This record gives sequence, C-alpha cells and structure tokens, in this order.
Amino acid sequence: MAKVSASVLSENFSQEAVDEVSSADFLQLDVMDGLFVPNKTIWADTVNLIKTSLPKDVHLMIIDPEEFVQEFIDAGADRIAFHIEATEYPESVIGQIQGAGLKAGIALSIETPVKKIFPFLENIDYVIVMPIIPGASGQKFDKRVLEKIKAIRAKNPDIEIEVDGGIDGKTGKLVVEAGADILVADSFIHSGDAKERIKILKNI
Ligand code: DX5
Repeated sequence: MAKVSASVLSENFSQEAVDEVSSADFLQLDVMDGLFVPNKTIWADTVNLIKTSLPKDVHLMIIDPEEFVQEFIDAGADRIAFHIEATEYPESVIGQIQGAGLKAGIALSIETPVKKIFPFLENIDYVIVMPIIPGASGQKFDKRVLEKIKAIRAKNPDIEIEVDGGIDGKTGKLVVEAGADILVADSFIHSGDAKERIKILKNI
C-alpha cells in the first residue's frame, strides 16, 4: 500500500480542491519563488490559512531555503523538503527543520545526479525524487527516475522516498516497485473523481 500526498497546485490551492483530497495521507503544498523555478505560487501565509485535517507536506522550490524555512515552520508545516540544488547550506536547513520537531526532506530534480544527496541520507527523514523538472504540474514522467529510487533504497532501507511528478496508476506502480513509499500526484487526481483516483494510488 502506497501513501498519497495530494498536490493542489493545478487547482490554484483552492479550499474546494483541498477538501476534495481529504482521503489522501498528506496535502502537498508547492511553494515556488519565481527564482528557483519560473513560477511563483504560495508563501507561508497561505500555508497557514489552508484548512485541512491532513498533515501539510511542504515542498519548497525556493532559493536559499536556510533564510526562509523558519517562516514555514511557524506557518504550521508538518514536514518540509527543500531542493539540494537551491542551497549551499543543506545542514543548516535540515537542522532548522528537525530542531523544530518536523521531518526534513531533500528534493532533487530529474536532471540532478542522485549522488548529490547521498551524503545526507543518514540525516534526513525523506527524499522527494522528481521524475520531472520542478515548477509545473502535468509534465511527462521520465523513467530515468527509477534507477535513482533504486540507488537510494539500496543505500538506506528505512528512508521514506516520495516521488513527485507525472504519477498516475501506471507510473505509480513502477516507482513503488522500485522502492518508493509516497506518491505525490496532482493532474491524475484532479482529472477525474479525486476520491477514486486517490484510492487507485493507495492500492498500488
Ligand atoms: C511540480 C510539483 C508537483 C506537481 C505535480 O513541481 O512539485 O507537485 O503538482 O503535478 P503532476 O502530478 O501533474 O505531475
């Protein structure tokens, strides 16, 4: 059984879309600064305002997360991931997140070699492996991600592996077989009956 983190990026973070995904395991909140990625989305104030019974799984796609992560901790995030490509101080970001009692994750783009995160695998709680270039929903799943998932799983049998981008019933199965635990999905969930789609992913 996979866990599901439902993204509401394509639904513009509407409260209606948030309510529709209440059967997921996490609510994925995609924070983009218009610098690390071209798009600009929400910031900590919106993370705080969104009402959900689900844990808030915050995915920071921002540069210099060490300068801003405290705002997201204060906004009520339950777990926070930042991009390895976006900071020179990953230990500082991990320390701030875990020091506040939250789970810390590192995310990496499809174009980033997996070995970049190896030095941190013993110190973080989860990894977000992306089969896409971060920044937008609705992109095509890149199969190169499967080898990365296997490599991370081989190095650390206990770490949580979240996969974010291009996930549907078929690609979800591939990544779970490779060793993933949590499926992040946006377009797949919102292009049909959200409850049914979440069930499909959970049953993988
Ligand atoms: C993109 C975001 C994703 C996005 C996934 O950078 O991190 O969470 O919403 O969208 P789909 O599931 O459509 O690929």
